[in-house]
Amino acid sequence: MLLPDGERSIEVSRDGHIWDGAFAAGIVLPALCHQGRCLTCAGRLEGSGEVDQSDSVTYFPEDREAGFVLLCTGKPRSALRIRTHQANEMRQFRRQKKLPAPYS
Ligand code: FES
Repeated sequence: MLLPDGERSIEVSRDGHIWDGAFAAGIVLPALCHQGRCLTCAGRLEGSGEVDQSDSVTYFPEDREAGFVLLCTGKPRSALRIRTHQANEMRQFRRQKKLPAPYS
């Protein structure tokens, strides 16, 4: 994952959430709701990759098309390269699409 202060590699189990995998590796990413609702934990895929967001309360096809992922409730389904700390960008994207953008 591409963090503001550099790149780190982590392992996440198939049924684990990416946020929790990062936490287990000593990386504390932003989060509030841990339910896939508030967008605080947002990241963005760099390149291709697949994330299962079925545990997220609110996640739209438009989010997926734009590469945004919710790390608190996202489960990896492929190798991933994710830029973290994308809450502002995802909220702005949601506003542009007239979709819910909590805390924006
Ligand atoms: S912490 Fe709220 S959406 Fe992930």
